[in-house]
Amino acid sequence: MSLTKYDHYIAGAARAPATNRYFDTLDPSTGEPLAEVAEGSADDVDRAVRAARDARNVWGKVERRDRGRILHRISGRILEELEELARLETLDTGFPLRESEFVAREVAARHFEYYGGLPDKLGGETVPVPGNNVDFTLREPLGVVAAIIPWNGPLYAASRCIAPALAAGNTVVVKPAEEAMLTVLRLAEIATEAGLPDGVLNVVTGFGPAAGAALAGHPDIDGVSFTGSIETGTTVMKLAADHVVPVGLELGGKSANIVFSDANLDAALLWTLPAIFSCSGQICVAGSRLVLHEDVHDPFLERLVEATRKLRIGPGLENPDLGPLVSDGQLDRVTDYIEAGRQEGASLETGGRRVTDGSLAEGYFVEPTIFSGVKHEMRISQEEIFGPVLSVLSFSDAEEALQIANGTQYGLAAGVWTSDLKTAHYMARSLEAGSVYVNRYFPAGLEAPSGAYKRSGFGSVDGAETLRRFTRVKNVVIGLD
Ligand code: NAI
Ligand code: MG
Repeated sequence: MSLTKYDHYIAGAARAPATNRYFDTLDPSTGEPLAEVAEGSADDVDRAVRAARDARNVWGKVERRDRGRILHRISGRILEELEELARLETLDTGFPLRESEFVAREVAARHFEYYGGLPDKLGGETVPVPGNNVDFTLREPLGVVAAIIPWNGPLYAASRCIAPALAAGNTVVVKPAEEAMLTVLRLAEIATEAGLPDGVLNVVTGFGPAAGAALAGHPDIDGVSFTGSIETGTTVMKLAADHVVPVGLELGGKSANIVFSDANLDAALLWTLPAIFSCSGQICVAGSRLVLHEDVHDPFLERLVEATRKLRIGPGLENPDLGPLVSDGQLDRVTDYIEAGRQEGASLETGGRRVTDGSLAEGYFVEPTIFSGVKHEMRISQEEIFGPVLSVLSFSDAEEALQIANGTQYGLAAGVWTSDLKTAHYMARSLEAGSVYVNRYFPAGLEAPSGAYKRSGFGSVDGAETLRRFTRVKNVVIGLD
């Protein structure tokens, strides 16, 4: 049986790659090819950027309220296509189907709904300048926004960037990751069906060093939004610097989930599992370090290990607790880290193996894994693993918890569990993290912006203020004398 072929999506239609070369995207549950996808080159990127530049005028002339209505129609179409989108996302990424459904509904559809309500509310200010002058600001779109996104939820990462960029009046070129991209191509088609003018949203698929670098370094883009690793983020920033193009970076994390002894331990346990095992740990804000107060360490760990042993592993479409990792590369990376944890002397409480039983043999499955006795300096406490591997550390007071939590190059998120209001506020203020979750984990909704400290990046994500990130300010002063 021949595989379905996916082309780039440029100027409102599927376009074959200039080189006519295609590569396979795999189903990580089986290791089998899933589809053939266009391998983008600098020529394809150039074509997409030109389409996006040409479309700026068309999109700019659409009344703001109509811009919003088109985004709302995209949201509605995503909901209509929810089952198909979720299925495709699960096949491509391996994520459990219910997680893909959640992302399609609560992230993708919701982003277009939320930002669809904002174009007609994005105004400038009048400024009280001295003298007989009137001064006001305008908020203008940047122009062409390049979005380079990762594989850990193409639909998730794409919507979070595309919706605010379009709402602010920009046109967009997306370069999804080479491991998973099919839903982004479908999303672009859906947007056209919903009335988005041709060229406003374009997708060029392909590999990072070719298509990604060509896009980040293209002289005719006006902004870059990058989500992925620190290493590539740094490269992208340098490429954009050549043309003085502003960049937003959302890089990795090694987020601490801190449990004080006065916490509601049942609730903490309930959230600790999805914090690290959702999407098999391939989430930027995953709670990958569990930091337990010494008084509750042993009983909490015991219950956590027991609950973890019950988790089911399987192909995403069968809706297991954990699906596979996205690729063989990610499988190697995660199993190498598990080996490093053993070598460094951490205690393996559960998991630790690749799963190769029966029909899972060719997939990229790894057991949910917990290491206890982890020391702060160990690699499994310092480096982003991006897999279902939890490092458990212990602390005796708030200062020690903060030293651990803040003691990495990252600063994306942190969880705090306590029933003491003072502790909660003190920790929230002292944590170097762009998001702090108290007595829950993960954001409660996209209405709230999240930021980042240190090498986790800069530039807000979500919330109304992210709309401003996709604009530039222009000031106008009128002398009245
Ligand atoms: P990556 O950062 O290399 O890939 C992200 C995106 O950048 C992809 O679209 C890729 O094609 C593109 N890219 C790669 N090289 C490029 C270049 N030279 N110029 C422009 N674009 C380029 O991440 P990768 O290799 O897929 O994952 C490695 C590790 O990075 C993961 O194990 C994880 O630790 C971390 N990561 C973190 C993410 C997060 O959300 N925090 C997302 C993805 C990766
Ligand atoms: Mg794939």
